[in-house]
Amino acid sequence: MGCQYFSPTDSGADTYTVAMPKLTFGRGCLYESGRRVAVRGMKRAALITDPFLVDGPYVDTVKRSLADNGIEADIFSEVRIEPCDATVMSAAEFLAEGDFDGVVSIGGGSVMDTAKAAMVYALYPADFLDYFGPPIGRGKPVPGPVLPHLACPTTSGTGSECTSLSVIRINDLNTKFVLGSPHILPDEALVDPACCDTLPANVVASTGCDLLSHAIECYTARAYTTWGRIDDPAARPYIQGANPWSDLAAREALELVGRYLVRGVADRTDIEARDSLMWAATLAGMAFGNSGTHLPHAMSYGVTHLMRDVTTPDYDVKSPFVPHGISVIVSAPAIFRYTAESAPDRHFQAAKYLGADCEHAGPADAGEIVANRIIDMMKNTAIPNGLGGVGFTRGDVKSLTESTIRQKRAIANAPRETNATDIENMYNNALSYW
Ligand SMILES: [Fe+2]
Repeated sequence: MGCQYFSPTDSGADTYTVAMPKLTFGRGCLYESGRRVAVRGMKRAALITDPFLVDGPYVDTVKRSLADNGIEADIFSEVRIEPCDATVMSAAEFLAEGDFDGVVSIGGGSVMDTAKAAMVYALYPADFLDYFGPPIGRGKPVPGPVLPHLACPTTSGTGSECTSLSVIRINDLNTKFVLGSPHILPDEALVDPACCDTLPANVVASTGCDLLSHAIECYTARAYTTWGRIDDPAARPYIQGANPWSDLAAREALELVGRYLVRGVADRTDIEARDSLMWAATLAGMAFGNSGTHLPHAMSYGVTHLMRDVTTPDYDVKSPFVPHGISVIVSAPAIFRYTAESAPDRHFQAAKYLGADCEHAGPADAGEIVANRIIDMMKNTAIPNGLGGVGFTRGDVKSLTESTIRQKRAIANAPRETNATDIENMYNNALSYW
């Protein structure tokens, strides 16, 4: 491959898979939705969205476009932020009873993830935990294809329009977990940056931190050549490690988020910045959907599992609630200080792409440099100061660690071997940064 990071290993993978939907990007492309599903033969579409968007202009555009192309549509708009199994099952019931031949989802990651999972349970009814990976689920593969799906993001962070995974909260277990299957990759993504024009600053900040972490986690993940070979290529998981494809998209996403995040948060009329963040989010989705994330996302699940009495301005959600991007980024600087030792060149390059001043530094300083660049971006976008900023104390670290340790494959995707004590140390070091 011409790159030392991907040097072959004796028993490691020598192949990686790239999975991508057909992608359309640009201002105004949302109106293409009707024509795009019509050429796929769709006659009756389920439109999945949330209560905040359902009466707004973006859903209206999709409804008009579907009608103009002769497509009937029924709307499901009960998706809540941080969707849970109950939401998925009611969306699945809606799909099963509606005689639909396709789905259009319009919203943030919660909406798109609900659409993906709901199609699985509508077509292949099962106990809810069957299709989730162990140790939470039973790891059964989704049996076959779901309905054609056109995904339209309205936030610049999730990248879910480009991934074959769905993150759902399991209510009884009070935890989020991932349902991953090649069958739930959307067929098309329509990414219209105009959908982000009215996003409040805090939403751009937290979703921007999500995309930042997706990109840097992909770029610093262990190389795909260090994961074991897979006998059945159809079973190759999306967490397959860093590879030349994920590098390509992650590098560009890092440069864009480094250049535009602070501007896009500060000024909602800065179209150049906001459009660039939308493209960066899509790129980062293309990257992590084909490499997997690692510790910052794995450790974020403990944060959302155990948070209490906390909210974020601009989010109309009752306490306790920490937006996904914030739950990820609060631990990220401490994590990259830990992982840099095992992949110093990668961390150093990532810091450079993010715009850190690296003139008098080298790979040996990579952990500090990348952590400080992230901290700088957090400060300048009013992100809480580490775990303490979202209500955690040193006394919570043991429970946070116990909750996180279940995310085994994501933890193993980090470039450095990590045990429970390491995770505890990282949480302790993430309590505050300034
Ligand atoms: Fe994420």
